[in-house]
Amino acid sequence: MAGLDQVKSKISHQDRSKRFGHPGRIIWLTGLSGAGKSTIAMALERRLFDAGQNVYVLDGDIVRGGLCADLGFSSDDRAENIRRIGEVARIMADAGLLVIVAFISPFRADRDRVRDGMPAGRFTEVHVSTPLEICEQRDTKGLYAKARAGELTDFTGISSPYEPPPSPEVTLPTEQLTVDDCVDRIAAALT
Ligand code: ADX
Repeated sequence: MAGLDQVKSKISHQDRSKRFGHPGRIIWLTGLSGAGKSTIAMALERRLFDAGQNVYVLDGDIVRGGLCADLGFSSDDRAENIRRIGEVARIMADAGLLVIVAFISPFRADRDRVRDGMPAGRFTEVHVSTPLEICEQRDTKGLYAKARAGELTDFTGISSPYEPPPSPEVTLPTEQLTVDDCVDRIAAALT
């Protein structure tokens, strides 16, 4: 197309909020593999959907099968994974949706970049803070055992770092909470 001038949408953020009954936003769950991010994300999606809100989950295990199927687990690939997901989530939030994101997202700088790209107050960071020992005991996918045996490299918490968020809006020590408690805490932070 000739010219690079952007034609701006004639629909404002306020128009979309009015139509949907809520502003679009990102609810970003971060934590170790097996911490419970996907379980909490799906329960939260159900709760918000049932309350009449327009909500959708972007989950690491699903997105890595498609949009990010070309990426592995080096720091560079994880940064690119989070950049792509952050971009998709930002666009979906701009369209007016509540976007729940559930990725390990181990690096602070990658998460903060997504936050910085969002309008103030429309990025809610949730640390699913289940300790490594408990994630490893659960080992629902058998990946910790493989990582300890050296069959998986760059495994978060074992051979690749996890940087906890210094000041998340919500912290969920799942070893002390039910899934319902976790959803209550996030829902409370959104109102
Ligand atoms: S992230 O670090 O880039 O945010 P993401 O959430 O997309 O990770 O994917 C994590 C999922 O990939 C884990 O739940 C696990 O099932 C799987 N996985 C496979 N290899 C690894 C690895 N080396 N480190 C962490 N997770 C891995």
